[in-house]
Amino acid sequence: VTKGVILVGGPSKGTRMRPLTLDCPKPLLPIGGKPMVWHPLNALAQVPGLTDIIMIGFYEDSVMAPFVRESQREFPNIRIAYMREYRSLGTAGGLYHFRDLILRTPVPQHIFICNIDICSSFPFTELLAMHSAHRGVGTILGVNVPKDTATKYGCIVSDPETKQMLHYVEKPESWISNTVNGGVYLFDKSVFDEIKVAMDSKTECAAHNPLIELDETLQLEQDVIAPLAGTGKMYVCETRDFWRQIKTAASAVTASGLYLKQFQKSRPELLAPKTGEVIEPVYIDSTAHIDPTAKIGPNATIGPNVVVGEGARIANAIILDNSVIDKHAVVLNSIVGSNSTLGKWARVDGEPEPVSDVKGQISVSVLASDVHVAPETHIRSCIVLPNKNLPKNAYNQVLL
Ligand code: GDD
Ligand code: GTP
Repeated sequence: VTKGVILVGGPSKGTRMRPLTLDCPKPLLPIGGKPMVWHPLNALAQVPGLTDIIMIGFYEDSVMAPFVRESQREFPNIRIAYMREYRSLGTAGGLYHFRDLILRTPVPQHIFICNIDICSSFPFTELLAMHSAHRGVGTILGVNVPKDTATKYGCIVSDPETKQMLHYVEKPESWISNTVNGGVYLFDKSVFDEIKVAMDSKTECAAHNPLIELDETLQLEQDVIAPLAGTGKMYVCETRDFWRQIKTAASAVTASGLYLKQFQKSRPELLAPKTGEVIEPVYIDSTAHIDPTAKIGPNATIGPNVVVGEGARIANAIILDNSVIDKHAVVLNSIVGSNSTLGKWARVDGEPEPVSDVKGQISVSVLASDVHVAPETHIRSCIVLPNKNLPKNAYNQVLL
């Protein structure tokens, strides 16, 4: 028996996604036309014999309930649940807190664990194949990232022959390796013994050191995986498939494009058919109204009830529900929030996501909800907070 856990986090994090996350919690932000959390959930649902998917986070139950209901309808053969931490417990604290629930019958032999804020092909079959071939506790998805970004992640050194994890440092000060933690794991159920060891040792430390707070928080990366490195119990499954972290609005646009490209092969029925002015891949909600002379794509995601006027141009962009893109308006490398409008001949654009982080530079434009761009106005590389009228051009600014 196999089960899946998705670590969805909670409010107060995801600030780099603001202003989008002011209206929509990060797990539900549409990426490739689907809520962010749908992608790992859908991938888990395809694993043969998987019985349960448990989302763990500290959002209110009411925030996640509609998604749980919808996904339960989409995947009726899998038991889907959301478990709420009473406060942020870290990436292993929730697993520990809900261990009885995760391990209840049918008792799982294997548990997949996924971070939510990644875009991946979720190569579970490869992970399972590798995991089944060794006697370790866990197998971690390793991905290769550019050298100057590696220290933003959990860095892994492994034995090139045996693939055993030799060394793990979460977000090290200096470079260790370009192979990083992809935020996807396959664990044997015995991982709960390792988590208990970590929790006990934390409790022990706290008993002797008044500076350590005695609480239920625990980090999977630092407290469980790092100590397992070099013990022969953790293995690394390196993938060459696509993989990105989704922390910023720019990365949400990139991730959307990667998922749309994947849908072209795996789920073409989800995508807009290639008509005259559609450049694939494009996702258009069935309730959106697109003028046949508008040119859409590649990588455009058009949400529910969006109206796009004649001659409009949209590419590398996400348009959220109920927005109106008037005649001949242009949206490139941008996200347009709910209930926003672009007047005739308005232009909202930006730079595509940079390969490396350039501090303080805004790449894509992000309009929050209820933002209204006047006709013939140009907004370039701006972050715009909700309920704003933009009567004149703006470049490279945060518009509060
Ligand atoms: N339930 C719950 N409770 N989930 C949490 C909590 C918590 O208190 N804190 C974080 N998460 C979830 C997040 O939603 C996300 O899915 C995942 O745990 C990791 O989030 P962070 O702790 O913010 O770490 P990170 O994203 O900076 O880095 C992690 O992911 C990288 C890959 O994207 C680490 O695992 C890195 O090692 C890894 O390289
Ligand atoms: P992500 O969810 O990782 O995207 O967080 P973020 O985008 O909000 O990170 P940002 O750099 O904008 O700043 C938030 C700060 O909160 C960071 O310094 C995080 O290290 C810190 N933080 C880390 N873990 C937690 C947690 O569990 N809860 C909260 N509230 N904050 C955390």
